Amino acid sequence: MAFIVKKKISGREYYYLNENKRIDGKVKTKTLAYLGKNKKEAEKMSKKIIRDLADEKINKVEEKINVVTKMEKQKISIDDLSAFCKRKGFVYPSGDIYGGLAGFWDFGALGVEFKNNIKREWWNFHVRKREDIEGIDGSIITNPRVWEASGHVGGFVDVAVVCKKCGNKSKVDKHELGIARCEKCSGEFEGKGEFNPMFTTSVGPIASDSVKAYLRPETAQLIFSNFKSVYDSARMKLPCGIAQIGKAFRNEIAPRDFIFRSREFEQMEIEYFVNPLSNSCPYEIPDVEIFIYSEEMQKKKSEPLKMKVKDALAKKIIKKDWHAYWLATEFSWFMSLGANPDNFRARQHFTEELSHYSSDTWDLEYNFPFGWKELQGIADRGDYDLSQHEKFSKKDFKIFDEVSKEKVLPEVVCEPSLGVERAFIVFMLDAYFYDKERENVLLKLNPKLSPVKAAVFPIVKKPEFEKICEDICRDLRSEWNVVYDKSGSIGRRYSRNDEIGTPFCITIDEESLKEGDVTIRDRDSKRQSRVKVSDLKDKLRSLIDGEIDFGKVGRAI
Ligand code: GAP
Repeated sequence: MAFIVKKKISGREYYYLNENKRIDGKVKTKTLAYLGKNKKEAEKMSKKIIRDLADEKINKVEEKINVVTKMEKQKISIDDLSAFCKRKGFVYPSGDIYGGLAGFWDFGALGVEFKNNIKREWWNFHVRKREDIEGIDGSIITNPRVWEASGHVGGFVDVAVVCKKCGNKSKVDKHELGIARCEKCSGEFEGKGEFNPMFTTSVGPIASDSVKAYLRPETAQLIFSNFKSVYDSARMKLPCGIAQIGKAFRNEIAPRDFIFRSREFEQMEIEYFVNPLSNSCPYEIPDVEIFIYSEEMQKKKSEPLKMKVKDALAKKIIKKDWHAYWLATEFSWFMSLGANPDNFRARQHFTEELSHYSSDTWDLEYNFPFGWKELQGIADRGDYDLSQHEKFSKKDFKIFDEVSKEKVLPEVVCEPSLGVERAFIVFMLDAYFYDKERENVLLKLNPKLSPVKAAVFPIVKKPEFEKICEDICRDLRSEWNVVYDKSGSIGRRYSRNDEIGTPFCITIDEESLKEGDVTIRDRDSKRQSRVKVSDLKDKLRSLIDGEIDFGKVGRAI
């Protein structure tokens, strides 16, 4: 324990911070610091030094904990993940009691919280925090002319195929029939007829008057068809974007790999519009490094190269600055929420692979348990969609650009389009660890994404402890999803929460009754700290937002 001593030298007072330590059975005094000549200043300085020393000790303990903890990254299959999600209440097959329906899934109590957190983080990052992007929420069923203009009615016709060798069901583009081979066994495909992946419905209760309509296969077209209204009413200026999160439906021939390819899913999309005559990117490209896999590298069968996105642009591997900007931005969103950079790569589409509306597309791919697959598409759509809607609606989609003082039809220089369910899988897989010491799964989700932010436990089931727990829960629930858990041993309660990714557990014990404080336990390091109940909400907020290190949250125990 450190203490202040005053020494008088030649009639003047000097203050020191000393500490007694038992060395070889004898108590020895060591001077830790000179505190100056003024008593008040010395007291202030001593408090700071004691605090710093405590932090230093905590950091050393933390280092030890990291060495000692036997945490293992678990490589699990997609079926294991599906079983885990069902067991823990994240995701169930839809209509499970009747045997389910392929490609449809229901999200349970934890799943809906987790999914909402992903969507909220995406919206905050892409819409709320930016000046240049506005949001919309379009309708799932709209005027069918929208889908005629977009090319979905006439253009998006696939051929259903079945592999003659292994029976794998798949789909191919019309032009690939007879050329494409089974992705599972390289067998020959047999065509089973053309199909349009859009689900149809009829609008209007009387059959003779009803109109054939479609469930939207992407959210993007609602952004295009509303472009002019949003641009004018939100007083936007190029370059700018419109974002949307919402359901999309595709009658996939082979829904598979849990929620990776479903028939009903959600998209988070941005259409980013620029003036086609002056479209250079004014933003700095985020300083991130990723595996780059260009069309040329793929053709030469060389390995992807890890490099800064900025350098890929400088070397003209990525051609447009806007493309580089959005690729780096999207990757950095995943990184900011704790995803593992080594599981990501940016792959350019082959020219033959490009959608009819795109002149260049880069996918953010992820190393899923079933291989590298598209996580997010980042396409240059040009003015395809706005000019199609101009043509079909006979409305003018041009806007007056304040900078160039001209009327222009904006171009979509980038369309970052991400499936919520694919992001769900990525965050889950990267967070999934097994702790040999604890003998349980540890879901190391970023606290911002965790479905439950805190679990509150009374050390014993007695009214005086339970009353404090209930008050704390009520207070914390005004901001977060918080659980009150009073069943089983404390150890069991910790592991239950480790498995669902709860970052902080709060225990109310004997000392809480006397001192008005609680113990917070950190999921990943198992460290514990005492915090006053009156400070709890603010401290928890700082922890969830990643503003303070756990070592600084309170008195370490
Ligand atoms: N507006 C462009 C568009 O929809 P896409 O590549 O067809 O492009 C964009 O889809 C993203 O939507 C994909 O990268 C993926 O994340 C997600 N997605 C597409 N089809 C899906 C499906 N059947 N199930 C789950 N997610 C899907």
